[in-house]
Amino acid sequence: LEKAETLKSEYVVGIKGTVKERASKNKNIKTGDIEVFVNELIIYSTAETPPIYIKDDDNAADNLRLKYRYLDLRKNKMQRNLTFRNMITKVARDYFYENGFTEIETPMLIKPTPEGARDFLVPSRTNPGTFYALPQSPQLFKQLLMIGGVEKYFQIAKCFRDEDLRADRQPEFTQLDIEMSFVEKEDVMNEIEGLAKYVFKNVTGEEANYTFQRMPYAEAMDRFGSDKPDLRFAVELKDLSDIVKNSSFNAFSSTVQNGGLVKAIVAPSANEKFSRKVISEYEEYVKTYFGAKGLAYIKLGADGISSPIAKFLSEDEMKAIIEKTEAKTGDVIFIVADKKKVVAAALGALRLRIGKDLDLINKDDFKFLWVVDFPMFDYDEEEQRYKAEHHPFTSIKAEDLDKFLAGQTEDIRTNTYDLVLNGSEIGGGSIRIFNPKIQSMVFDRLGLSQEEAKAKFGFFLDAFKYGAPPHGGLAFGIDRWFMVMLKEESIRDVIPFPKTNKGQCLMTEAPNTVDEKQLEELFIKSTYEK
Ligand code: AMO
Ligand code: AMP
Repeated sequence: LEKAETLKSEYVVGIKGTVKERASKNKNIKTGDIEVFVNELIIYSTAETPPIYIKDDDNAADNLRLKYRYLDLRKNKMQRNLTFRNMITKVARDYFYENGFTEIETPMLIKPTPEGARDFLVPSRTNPGTFYALPQSPQLFKQLLMIGGVEKYFQIAKCFRDEDLRADRQPEFTQLDIEMSFVEKEDVMNEIEGLAKYVFKNVTGEEANYTFQRMPYAEAMDRFGSDKPDLRFAVELKDLSDIVKNSSFNAFSSTVQNGGLVKAIVAPSANEKFSRKVISEYEEYVKTYFGAKGLAYIKLGADGISSPIAKFLSEDEMKAIIEKTEAKTGDVIFIVADKKKVVAAALGALRLRIGKDLDLINKDDFKFLWVVDFPMFDYDEEEQRYKAEHHPFTSIKAEDLDKFLAGQTEDIRTNTYDLVLNGSEIGGGSIRIFNPKIQSMVFDRLGLSQEEAKAKFGFFLDAFKYGAPPHGGLAFGIDRWFMVMLKEESIRDVIPFPKTNKGQCLMTEAPNTVDEKQLEELFIKSTYEK
């Protein structure tokens, strides 16, 4: 008893004794039915007062949680998340083994071929002056496996991308990566739906009766201003361009005349809730983050309309706007006039924010959606060049192939499918190009000269000369998938040892400096000055 009195929280102990049923049971704890009558107590280790409380709702600062991650992991919630992660990968593996897939590891040290994000580089000591890259995904290797005669491949693969980090993005993350030969879009999508249902059922214990809606990219952008719409609530973008193209409100009419769009969303029953202050916060939000020129609003109060642009609009225009948006008394209409991309980004994001602020989202809902037919190319205004919207290995839809071959680059649709769950892109894939001539043409359209394409992807283009099966696949971002299934706000809570938004591991202090000698061996000199 004397020894027991010295015990403090987080001590690690062993006890021997007799297990007895309790006279008064405690229903609130799992072990509340029994008691151990101890006759031997070993203290394996003592513990200092922990810098964070080991409780789910400890409110500890994120930085502290990451610095003492091993303590953070002791929390019930984090234990649940780790177990859950393990369950999903186990269940997914079971599914693939049962369905004839082979799990194959692809290399981590590969040739740098940056296309999407920036590569993480690894200097080679044995080949002075050269570098490996860490893979952004196993994309090229899994396609080469198809050419290598593997028909159904999968891998749980670590991927590395040196990009700006956000709540749902980490510099290293895990993909459940899949590729199959002799398949069409429908085959892959069916396989993935089967897998997603199987995982849901086996992990949550619930019957997965979820329907997988399908929506073309163009429709998603038009109706929701996003290529990953959250379908748990109904607010949609409405096009007002026709109504205001000749309006005397210049911000609207000149935008339409210059090829832009004027679109609106309605915040239902928000008139009372959205004060001037809230609305000006929204305006700042769309201006700062999405480059919108402004945010016009029309409040439909019980005592009439209040709007800073009412004086610029004719009665007919106002009436038509209300009719088109189907706004009712008590609603607030938000309008953005700008270039097509800016309108979509601004209103798409505002839609989500309003959905949250007005509590329009049913948090118990799981809404799957396939977004299909992404465009092949996207024009990057900053770099003034076309980039691949997905990746350059994506095949072009049969309907648009002739237009592509004839030289058209805009509005060329592809055989792509992204899987969206509650507004998060949890997976993406496509049917691939397997004709080397078309692959070269795509590189050409991306501004890669033949020499550059050969230098970067020569090995890949060569492989297609020796007989390539039609093939396609998809990769789930499993961290994101867990995050949505577990309803976590941050991807960090489903990753055992995550990095901060600056890409640091606060516990081990990575990245870090290295000895001069280590650099010399790698033939590297830092130009960085503090
Ligand atoms: P994509 O680039 O769309 O496709 O990636 C697939 C999925 O990976 C997840 N993901 C991320 N998760 C966390 N942090 C990140 N930084 C991050 N980046 C991506 C997303 C995404 O849907 N090779 C193709 C797949 C294919 O075509 O088969 C690819 O990598 O959930
Ligand atoms: P102004 O006449 O510039 O003061 O604008 C009057 C109102 O119209 C303000 O509420 C602005 O936010 C809004 N506004 C201005 N330009 C745009 C635009 N391109 N799209 C939407 N609203 C705008």
